[in-house]
Amino acid sequence: MLPWISKHSFPLYLAPMARFTDTAFRQMCKNQGADVMVTEFVQADAIIQGHERLWETVDFTTSQRPMGVQIFGSNPSTMAEAAKRINDKIRPDFIDINYGCPADRVICMDAGSSLLRNPCKLGTITKQVVDAVPETPVTIKIRIGWDDQTINALEIGKIGEAVGAKALTIHGRTKVQGYRGDANWQIIGQVAESLTIPVIGNGSIQSAKDVIEVKNNTNCAGVMIGRAALGYPWIFRDIKHYLKTGTAPSPPSIEYRWKTIIEYTEIIMSRSYQKERRMDIKWMRPKIIALTKEMKGSRKIRTALGSVSKISDLKDLASKHISMYQTTA
Ligand SMILES: Cc1cc2nc3c(=O)[nH]c(=O)nc-3n(C[C@H](O)[C@H](O)[C@H](O)COP(=O)(O)O)c2cc1C
Repeated sequence: MLPWISKHSFPLYLAPMARFTDTAFRQMCKNQGADVMVTEFVQADAIIQGHERLWETVDFTTSQRPMGVQIFGSNPSTMAEAAKRINDKIRPDFIDINYGCPADRVICMDAGSSLLRNPCKLGTITKQVVDAVPETPVTIKIRIGWDDQTINALEIGKIGEAVGAKALTIHGRTKVQGYRGDANWQIIGQVAESLTIPVIGNGSIQSAKDVIEVKNNTNCAGVMIGRAALGYPWIFRDIKHYLKTGTAPSPPSIEYRWKTIIEYTEIIMSRSYQKERRMDIKWMRPKIIALTKEMKGSRKIRTALGSVSKISDLKDLASKHISMYQTTA
């Protein structure tokens, strides 16, 4: 049993998204009502080799709990040992295993969604991780299959359940689809109907109406929200408000959005383990571009960000943007 999942709850998960869902971003989403968070994936082998920077990736605060740490890899004993080290060091609420990543560098090492093609090995990895951390729940995150011809989410879910996984998140796309096209909620629904463990549905959730649809029409125990939160972390607030009142809250003002973005940038820079990252804002640009993507004039912001190198430059950019769009935002 996962204490955050019950008959009376329908948790909103923030999806793990490599390079974006750092601890400060997670905090922002938590403040807006995200219920459960998972770190972006870390490679099991790199944990064993003692790469210090990975501990920055999986860093979380108590207020972010319930918090999962996601691992990926191909070797069952390495995965088990990495789970144990993470568990001993930072005591997450759960360990999540990534069986969904479609990136070439992950597929090449027979990890992530590559393992959907090898259910037997996937079962072995999951079991060894489960056995390595008996006091901590292990969950798995999968896609519906490798491609349209080999959709096997139900088979994988049953294997995961049999070897002790405590929940299953399904991203309703195949590996070959990547992030394109529609998520297949019919398959997610079928798996949720057939398993005993809770299933968290994932794929293109963008509004409270999408959440209500999943809640009313499937046996899913919760939903996971990915890209929609990257440009608009307030989505959790909006959904919660709608579920409670049946109405949409007024959108955050443009000043408030910039204030949040600047605070976020300051936090993430100041917490970086690398000195140069505490001084120079350039490495933050993709994250800031993602956060401003839904704002009016986002293309201009994107261009202007090219010459932003200090936090004071970002504040200037924010002031200019606010004065330009205040009345129309
Ligand atoms: C930039 C980016 C990075 C991602 N990194 C991870 C990751 O580290 N682990 C993981 O399980 N999924 C990862 N995903 C997949 C998301 O968790 C999610 O399954 C996917 O985006 C579908 O949800 P959405 O349609 O709501 O975006 C990533 C997705 C994106 C766009």
